[in-house]
Amino acid sequence: MRKIIIAIDGYSACGKSTTAKEVARELGYKYIDSGAMYRAVTLYFLDHLVAFTNPKEVDKALQNISLAFRVNAKGVSEIFLNGINVEQSIRKMRISENVSPVSTIKEVRQAMVALQRKLGKDKGVVMDGRDIGSVVFPDAELKLFLTADILVRAIRRQKELLEREDLVDVDTIIQNLQQRDQIDSTRKESPLVRPADSVEINTTHITIDEQVDEVIRLALSKIVAAGKRKFT
Ligand code: CDP
Repeated sequence: MRKIIIAIDGYSACGKSTTAKEVARELGYKYIDSGAMYRAVTLYFLDHLVAFTNPKEVDKALQNISLAFRVNAKGVSEIFLNGINVEQSIRKMRISENVSPVSTIKEVRQAMVALQRKLGKDKGVVMDGRDIGSVVFPDAELKLFLTADILVRAIRRQKELLEREDLVDVDTIIQNLQQRDQIDSTRKESPLVRPADSVEINTTHITIDEQVDEVIRLALSKIVAAGKRKFT
């Protein structure tokens, strides 16, 4: 069967990664969390006291960063920074508070987009982020744009943080989400936009299962269409 690229973009905590992971599992596709890449770069910058505003320091740091995804024993994709599994540490609030400024840096974006394209070159990939359908894979066969009400997003994020033993109040989370929405949507380099050819899914009142079913339904029709095109 022909493989396609599924690009899932949208605001923080709208259920992109949960949906992307499950869709990838059901289709036997690779799941790439592009946000994890920006978070891992942010972790490196903070731990190595890299001055975000100094292009020379940023360039040097990027040369010393190696990122890879590996699938663990449970079949879950995890990110490794210079050989170390940082899947848990990149989800902490201190990273969330710094990741959007780091993601505005042109050199950081160029390096991440190049890596993302390499990871998706054989298709059969579900990638989620902010600029996947608009910049990374403008020709992706299926583009989705997820939205949800801010309070629902904050409560979902609080639950995720609690599971990682990070207790953060809802107001602080709302503030962080709004701040990141603002930076992500207004930055100069590939801002978060809804691609005109994307399908919008509002996840406020639907369950994860409903979300996944809808995406699988859309994906299967694109896979069939991609297969037919091959023979015309
Ligand atoms: O988990 P959450 O939805 O909160 O965010 P994420 O997907 O982990 O992304 C964290 C941050 O990385 C975003 O707020 C963006 O600033 C940045 N990002 C980006 O600029 N481009 C992407 N393709 C993915 C993430």
